[in-house]
This record gives sequence, C-alpha cells and structure tokens, in this order.
Amino acid sequence: MDNAVILAGGQGKRMKADIPKPMFKVLGEPMLEWVISACEGAGFSEICVVKGFMGEIIDEYLGGRYKTVLQAERLGTGHAVMQAEAFLKENSDGNTLVLCGDAPFIDSETIKNALVIHKQQKNSVTVITAELEQPKGYGRIIRTENGISGIVEEKDADEQQRSIKEVNSGAYWFKTADLLDFLGKLTQNNVQGEYYLTDTVAIAVSEGKRAGAYMSENPDVILGANDRKGLLDLNTRARMAVIEKHLDNGIEFTCLDGVTIERSVEIETGTEILSGTILRGNTKIGANCKIGPNCVVEDCVIGDNASLNYVQAFKSEIEAGVKIGPWVHIRPNSVIKSGVKIGDFVEIKNSVIGEKTSVAHLTYIGDSDVGKKCNFGCGTVTVNYDGIVKSRCVIGDNCFIGCNTNLIAPVTLGKGVYTAAGTTITRDVPDYALAIDRGVMKVNEGYSLRKLKGKL
Ligand code: UD1
Ligand code: CA
Repeated sequence: MDNAVILAGGQGKRMKADIPKPMFKVLGEPMLEWVISACEGAGFSEICVVKGFMGEIIDEYLGGRYKTVLQAERLGTGHAVMQAEAFLKENSDGNTLVLCGDAPFIDSETIKNALVIHKQQKNSVTVITAELEQPKGYGRIIRTENGISGIVEEKDADEQQRSIKEVNSGAYWFKTADLLDFLGKLTQNNVQGEYYLTDTVAIAVSEGKRAGAYMSENPDVILGANDRKGLLDLNTRARMAVIEKHLDNGIEFTCLDGVTIERSVEIETGTEILSGTILRGNTKIGANCKIGPNCVVEDCVIGDNASLNYVQAFKSEIEAGVKIGPWVHIRPNSVIKSGVKIGDFVEIKNSVIGEKTSVAHLTYIGDSDVGKKCNFGCGTVTVNYDGIVKSRCVIGDNCFIGCNTNLIAPVTLGKGVYTAAGTTITRDVPDYALAIDRGVMKVNEGYSLRKLKGKL
C-alpha cells in the first residue's frame, strides 16, 4: 500500500516564535494541515509525520490522527526520512510520497499526476519539480535524455548548474523498497554536512535504476515561508485563491479590504460579502445573504437571505431571512430561527430564539429557550448565573418582555405573557398573564421648588 512521510522537523528561526515551522498558519490552518489534506485528498490514510523542534506541539495538534516519529537531531532531509524507517517497512511493497510540512500548496492533483508518471516510467524515484524564474535557494534538477541524474543543492552547485531553472519542490514519489535501500547509502559529503534526501536520485541512477521528474503545472507547489514576510505572502496568495473561487461561484465582493475567507467555508450564489468580514472554519452560508461589513463568522450555518452587519457569530445556526446587527455577539450553541430580528448591542449564548422573534436592542439572552413571535424590550437580561450554576429560562410563544426586565433563571414564562417594564421575574408566570413587580410610583408635587428655595 502507498504511504506518505511528511517532514516537519524544522524550527523556522527567522519566524521568531517558538513553534515548529509547519505549525505556522496559512488562512487559519497550520501549513502541516494543508499538506495533510493534500495527502488525504489524494486518498492516503497511511501518513507518518517526522517531528523535531518542539515536536510535542505537533503531537498535540494531531491528537493521534496520524503516526509521528521524532528526529532528535536535525541532520538533513535524508536523515529525517530515516527516522520513519519502521513505518516504511510496514508497507515496503508500495510507493512512498515524501513531502515538506512547510510547503502548504502541494495539491492532490499534482500528487496523483506525479504517481501516474512514477508508475508509467517505472521510476525508483520521481521528483515533483517546478520551473522558477528565480530558482535561487532551491535544489536544481539535472535532466538527462531519459530522466534525471541528480539534484544539486544551491550551496553545492557550480555556475552552470545554478542557471538551471527547474527546481526540486521537496516532494517525491519513491518505490518504498528502493527508498529504504537508498537511505542506507546516504552520506554527509556535501557543503552542509547533511544527509540530503536529494542524493537518492544520483544513487538510483548509479544502481542502474530510473529517476524521473514530474514538472508541476502549478509552480506554487514549491512555495514555503522562511520568515514572517514569506508567511504573509503565502496568506495573501491563499486568500486571493479562495476569493477567486467564490467569485467564480457567483459571490459578490465590491471591496476586498479586510475580507478573509478560510478555504473550508462554503457560500451559495448571490450572497454579498462586504469589507472587514472574516469567515472561518466550517461555515456554510446560504444564497442571497448579505454578510458584513465587519463580521466574524466561525463554524456557523447561515440560511438563505440572511443579513449580518457588524456581527461576531460562533458555532451557531442562523436560519433563513434572519437580520442581525449592528454590534451583536452570537456565542456558541445558539439557534436563531427563521425571520428573527436582532438589533444593536445584543448578546445571545447557548439559546434558541424562535421564529420571527424580535430582540431589538441592549439585551442579553443566555441559556434560554425562546418561543416564536416574542418581542424583547430594550435592556432585557436573562440572569442565568448565580455564581455557581447556570440555569435556563423558558419563554413561550408570543411573549412581550417589557424594557429592563430581569428574568432570574431557572424560570418559565408561559405563552403570551407580558412583563411590565422594569420587572424582575423570580417565579414562573402562567399563559397570558401580566407579571409586574415594582414599587407603587409616588409623586411629590412641588418638591424641587421647596428644596431649592429661591434658586429656580
Ligand atoms: C530542500 C531540498 C531542496 C529543495 C527544497 C524545497 C534537500 C537536501 N534539499 O532544501 O532540493 O529545493 O527543499 O523546499 O532536501 N527537515 C527535517 N529535518 C531536517 C531537515 C529538514 O524535518 O533535518 C524538513 C523541514 O522541516 C522541511 C523540509 O524538511 O519541512 C525541507 O527542509 P529545508 O531545510 O527547508 O530544506 P531546503 O534546504 O530548503
Ligand atoms: Ca526550505
């Protein structure tokens, strides 16, 4: 069976942060995740990640999804693959894909196309290459009449070799059994004193085996980040690629300022995304919605014709035709049913808001089940936390909650209940009742005239 080894031992000193380089994020996901998903997209399940610098961060991130092995000392890419020897031996009759964990734009198509060539040409090793106008820093591909004979690193190359524009992407297909054989033959005889994985090409040829190259149509497969500028560049490219995909799908953008959409997000045709909008995670947005300006939406499902303006929404469901904003916080585990209107300075948490209910201003609804067609007056608060436990409020259909009502949970309002403005609800209210709880208002006539004698 075919398998994959991802090299993720690098530190990325120039990033100036203590995490493994493949854990730096491009569009919200670690570069390592991009590489893993390219493997998964190409149909792999056998993946081994070689970790090194702060490898425990990689283990914690993967959470046991894939095997990892530790490269305790950083002695080069060949040495990194050697650490996966036991993993390779488990499936030595197939082919092995080796990838760099910090080159996030390798894609499933390139991986699959290269495997086709690898098998057709019966190669021991097939290098995925790209042609670059500025090949500096990369290993150069030495082509021969029937394949390739070697890869020369920049630091080891002569003038003529440096002029070669076809470079090594750092991704390869190997016959697994041959790879195991070649690994045992690597030496440190080079300028950097490292075990170069790239030397496997010359070793294959010296043993009378074939080495080939598959030149990718997508030169981005080669891109990695060595510093923060490089990382920003990867983010910029990834961001534009995602936005272009949505443009092709009929999504409207009139200004891209501050718009970032992670690649996992789905948007239906006719929706408009306005500036300052960040869409993350497993977010799905229906057709003909208007999202923005200035929204953050993470892991939410939004129905058709919804409109969100200055909204932060997390892990919630927002149904069709809902209007939210401006300045609204929808916290996890909320379901906002169709036709609901939520206005300024409202926070909803872990609650269901029934169809066509209106929560227009300055209100907190937490841990509550709210019915249909209710109206919340300004300044309503569900008092859901007593400092030790959180409790729920249940509010029936067609309730009218007066301004500045406090609902001390746990409490239940029946259907069609009215609460008078300023009421603190401390016990259940039956269907169709009015709950009022406030002192009798007194009027003391002429009070200020007496108090401020002569000053008015
Ligand atoms: C390598 C290739 C070069 C290619 C380039 C593409 C070699 C000798 N050279 O060079 O031909 O053009 O990638 O980007 O392979 N790693 C480890 N352990 C190590 C060394 C590296 O895990 O001891 C990992 C790194 O984290 C990275 C990958 O291997 O993911 C590539 O290493 P890097 O140091 O970036 O290789 P380059 O010198 O750039
Ligand atoms: Ca590199």
